Amino acid sequence: MEKVLTLPDSHAAPLSIRAKALVFHDPGSLALLSHVERIARSDATVLVIGETGTGKELIARHIHTTSGRRGPFVAVNCGAFSETLIDAELFGHESGAFTGASQARAGWFEAANGGTLFLDEIGDLPLALQVKLLRVLQERQVVRLGSRRGIALDVRLVAATNIDLARAVEAQHFRADLYYRLSVAGVRLPPLRERPADILPLARHFILGYQSRLGMEQVQLSPASQAALLSYSWPGNIRELENVIHFALIVCRDEVIEVEDLKLVPLSRSSSSPVQPVAPTAPTALSEATAGEPSIDAGTAPDHQGTVKSTPMDSLVSAWRELLASGQTDLFDKTESALIHAAYDFCHQNQVRTARVLGITRNMLRTHLKRHGLLGVQDDEPIPAHEPTEMPDLA
Ligand SMILES: Nc1ncnc2c1ncn2[C@@H]1O[C@H](COP(=O)(O)OP(=O)(O)O)[C@@H](O)[C@H]1O
Ligand SMILES: [Mg+2]
Repeated sequence: MEKVLTLPDSHAAPLSIRAKALVFHDPGSLALLSHVERIARSDATVLVIGETGTGKELIARHIHTTSGRRGPFVAVNCGAFSETLIDAELFGHESGAFTGASQARAGWFEAANGGTLFLDEIGDLPLALQVKLLRVLQERQVVRLGSRRGIALDVRLVAATNIDLARAVEAQHFRADLYYRLSVAGVRLPPLRERPADILPLARHFILGYQSRLGMEQVQLSPASQAALLSYSWPGNIRELENVIHFALIVCRDEVIEVEDLKLVPLSRSSSSPVQPVAPTAPTALSEATAGEPSIDAGTAPDHQGTVKSTPMDSLVSAWRELLASGQTDLFDKTESALIHAAYDFCHQNQVRTARVLGITRNMLRTHLKRHGLLGVQDDEPIPAHEPTEMPDLA
């Protein structure tokens, strides 16, 4: 049996197809879903535990949607703010509460009144704020920074963690009383490798979601690529599967995904660590708004430890800085040329795919190809402005 739950449609065209539907096929996932729906109707605080990318935020949204609460769903990443900032962000402040607080502001708790507050990466909440959070939960009221007056609240709290909070309690990084208070109802989202029957239905779900946006129809997974998806360990779970499928759609030929289109990168620490050890985590993206159900996001920032993961983009930026410092003055042209050359080469001189990986139209690509000497003037036939989606593969 397969269950697909549709969540309220996103108002804008979202970059990812997240938060639109939940796919459950594996018997373990279906049992989990009915557990989640049972606890959703109560007002109990829920602690969602699972590795990164297992769908914790989506489950939190589903809890909110099925709870019948009419207020907003507000998502805040506790790892994304400094200690002073998150204090004011969560609990609000009066004007003059601290330097720069020129106006009074409601915090996320007040913003979520009548609805659900989702505190992601709760393990990153500094100890001093854990005390405050516990008090808010017990007293059902919030006191803004710089104020003495409590503001009554009706907020359902859903917290999520990808670290083992019990171990964090032992290590005295997390307060035991808050831990017990949060885990009134616990939901453990198993990693994808423990629910293999979800893999292919999810892959097909993501194909359906992305293919039309890429101007493709009825993309298939070859039998060998299905086998590869099933035998992979998915350290990044559903988020990784989504990214792998998105990328495969961009590079596949003839609307069939083959093994070589799947960028599967087994990491050595992948399958052995069910829940990450206690460690500072890099900031992660927050939720996006959904129509009908007001939703607020709290932005991202380096975490309170100042940890920022180095990405290939970071390396590029530091390379540019180095080149700028060395007095290079034609950097724009050189960078553009290198990018166009690399992408065209990566896509085996296929224009349709190169335009797709770069996220530009084929007309724009052809202009760049000509500018950088990759296309002769004789190849200069115009392309219809509406960019037909079913373009033959013209190399
Ligand atoms: N059951 C599911 N069905 C469909 N998509 C899912 C499901 N669970 C997670 N996803 C997708 O996987 C990605 C990661 O989910 P998310 O809730 O952000 O994970 P986490 O908060 O645990 O890191 C999102 O794009 C989400 O839409
Ligand atoms: Mg998350």
